[in-house]
Amino acid sequence: MKIQTIQTTPFDDQKPGTSGLRKKVKVFQQPHYLENFVQSIFDTLLDDDGLPSGAVLTIGGDGRYHNRDAIQTIIKMAAANGFTRVLVGQAGILSTPAVSHLIRKYKTFGGMVLSASHNQGGVNGDFGIKYNISNGGPAPEKITDTIFAKSKVIAIYKIAELPKIDIDTVGEIAFDGVIQNTKFVVQVINAVDDYADLMQTLFDFPAIKSLLASGFKMKFDAMHAVTGPYAQEIFVNRLGAPANSLMNCIPSEDFGGGHPDPNLTYAEDLVNIMFAGEAALDFGAASDGDGDRNMILGKNFFVTPSDSLAVLAANATLVPAYKQGIAGVARSMPTSGAADRVAAKLNIPCYETPTGWKFFGNLMDAGKVTLCGEESFGTSSSHVREKDGLWAVLFWLNILAQKNVENGIVSVEKILMSHWLEYGRNVYSRHDYEAIPTEAANLVIAHIKAQFTSLVGQSFGTYIVKTCDDFSYHDPIDGSISHNQGTRILFEDGSRIIFRLSGTGTEGATLRIYLEAFEPDSTKHHLDAQVALAKMIDIALQISQLKERTGRLAPTVIT
Ligand code: G1P
Ligand code: ZN
Repeated sequence: MKIQTIQTTPFDDQKPGTSGLRKKVKVFQQPHYLENFVQSIFDTLLDDDGLPSGAVLTIGGDGRYHNRDAIQTIIKMAAANGFTRVLVGQAGILSTPAVSHLIRKYKTFGGMVLSASHNQGGVNGDFGIKYNISNGGPAPEKITDTIFAKSKVIAIYKIAELPKIDIDTVGEIAFDGVIQNTKFVVQVINAVDDYADLMQTLFDFPAIKSLLASGFKMKFDAMHAVTGPYAQEIFVNRLGAPANSLMNCIPSEDFGGGHPDPNLTYAEDLVNIMFAGEAALDFGAASDGDGDRNMILGKNFFVTPSDSLAVLAANATLVPAYKQGIAGVARSMPTSGAADRVAAKLNIPCYETPTGWKFFGNLMDAGKVTLCGEESFGTSSSHVREKDGLWAVLFWLNILAQKNVENGIVSVEKILMSHWLEYGRNVYSRHDYEAIPTEAANLVIAHIKAQFTSLVGQSFGTYIVKTCDDFSYHDPIDGSISHNQGTRILFEDGSRIIFRLSGTGTEGATLRIYLEAFEPDSTKHHLDAQVALAKMIDIALQISQLKERTGRLAPTVIT
């Protein structure tokens, strides 16, 4: 195999965000852009301890536009940089949790996830790339910071001269390696089987199968994205759900022109089915572009992701994999404190980390936590090191199956109502203002920070400001510190307003406002979150002067 060394010059915008590097497809298509970033990743790995002999790289993406081209390039660069084998999902497609699982199962050195997750796809959409380490999880900040530093000084990249590789046929293709008498192997694997097998070891499939056979009606929306084939195998082939339990299950390069983000705005078709009054089904769920997010719906009922995490934690022992109990829970800072209440009752620790799954890896590796979650529709456990959409759906189905066996039909809403009765309700909502000019967004944050001192002690109706700060995280395992992880206004009664700029957007800035208030009174638990949080929403707008400073009169997405 011949290796080419190509001269290049740095791009100044290759700083990985909350979850890898995300840019418009057009940016990634510039000459050398992808290559520079991939070489910066490899240079970081080579600088560390170098690649061990026989190092294997897992590669998979969510099937969005540019996936196939990028994979061809990455395979050639992996060969040139010393990997002896790459594991590629068939057609280049693997869900993010499936990549994590494959890295762990086959003990590969690391993996490349090609996805911009819930961002729109297609030729005018977004593309993304993320490096995962050998535990199966996203590279921690220490590594992503080095990758960025390398990208700023890169001068050459290495790429092997290989023919176009057939990634559609399961099997192995061997090439002569860089060193004489060695081989470089491209192994194309079935994208679905390993993952479906893993799910079957965690959950009570016979119980879920009986539930689905008993007239319980569900709908899963893959949003034209990566989970379609997984859902077909798991729900239809293995659990016997009728084919019409699935919608939008054929992956497309532009996600059917939609926005593959499972929330009340973008999963509108599913939401209409699940909020159809008497005609609504018993259970609805959706996942995002790369299959790591989940939205859970009951009959005319939406489960806030923060509550979902709490419910899973409280009911974990109903699931075979967690029947001995869970070691601890972790949630990102903006996620509501509902899980904390469950952890306190179970007498297990609950950790508060910055936004982004990469902060959970150390805690899981150290055995400190079993379940993790984010308010942004992410939930998972230590079975992988990524959030896992279908896992969360199966977890809910397993709980429902078990409760139904014990008590006859128990609805999703009923589960939430009894959960709140026991623990109280952390009423929660997130308001996103997407694609506002970066400068205006920065000024809003600066304006809030300028009030840190004057706000303390100030009353807004019954709400009194206790403290204001920028959240910092001290990782208890490796001692690293991450600053500026969200601007917080904390009130005397435990209510919170948090302002944070997104680290995954590619157009202007997305400003997120996270609102939380605790409601112990069960006569108010049925209230719509927007109604219950009306005063907090007012306070947030008053403090931030968001409308005045951005001209935006309403959020783009309300969760
Ligand atoms: C968003 C979510 C965050 C999640 C990330 C990747 O990041 O808020 O919780 O981990 O996507 O799915 P953000 O755009 O807020 O930086
Ligand atoms: Zn995702």
